Amino acid sequence: MVTLRVLTTDDRPLWRALRLAALTDAPNAFKARLVDWDRGEEERWHARLEFPGAYHVAALLDGHAVGMASGLPCAADIRELRSVWVSSEVRGRGIGNQLITAIETWALGSGGAALKLAVLPGNEPANAFYRRNGFMATGERGDVLPDGTTREQIMMKALRRT
Ligand SMILES: CC(C)(COP(=O)(O)OP(=O)(O)OC[C@H]1O[C@@H](n2cnc3c(N)ncnc32)[C@H](O)[C@@H]1OP(=O)(O)O)[C@@H](O)C(=O)NCCC(=O)NCCS
Repeated sequence: MVTLRVLTTDDRPLWRALRLAALTDAPNAFKARLVDWDRGEEERWHARLEFPGAYHVAALLDGHAVGMASGLPCAADIRELRSVWVSSEVRGRGIGNQLITAIETWALGSGGAALKLAVLPGNEPANAFYRRNGFMATGERGDVLPDGTTREQIMMKALRRT
């Protein structure tokens, strides 16, 4: 049984474990790299947990952490979906959908009108997953990746109150 748990600043150990699992399990899905963990990534990661106005969710399957997603305030009424990950052992069971729904609910509740995300070029499974969840490519390019040339692709979804 999958449950979602909202993380607080007291959840550093779980937060750290989730991030390390994500970077190990899906090294090509994120701009951040495991190799940078001891070169500042861990501090950046803990700072994210404490970022004002942020919302972090862990997915637990029978009590084991198997996924995560974050929502961050962006500009004005835009919220940002970040760091979506589901363990490769339990993909395809709807956990990713549950995580996105949780972040969308938070985004609407915090006054957001749209949710934005950045996906790496070539991450086709994530692209398909986001399109299935109503996100559309904007054509906008995001940050430059560690290779110095490739850039993230930005996707956006307008949020509607039901
Ligand atoms: C992308 C990811 C989060 C999806 O998680 P998941 O739990 O497997 O997704 P779900 O089972 O909830 O699937 C949700 C929907 O997306 C679709 N989908 C998921 N993965 C897909 C894939 N690889 N190809 C096509 N469609 C896919 C599903 O068919 C499903 O559609 P449905 O609602 O009609 O059934 C997961 O594959 C992952 O963690 N990947 C590695 C990390 C990553 O790439 N993160 C994104 C960084 S931007």
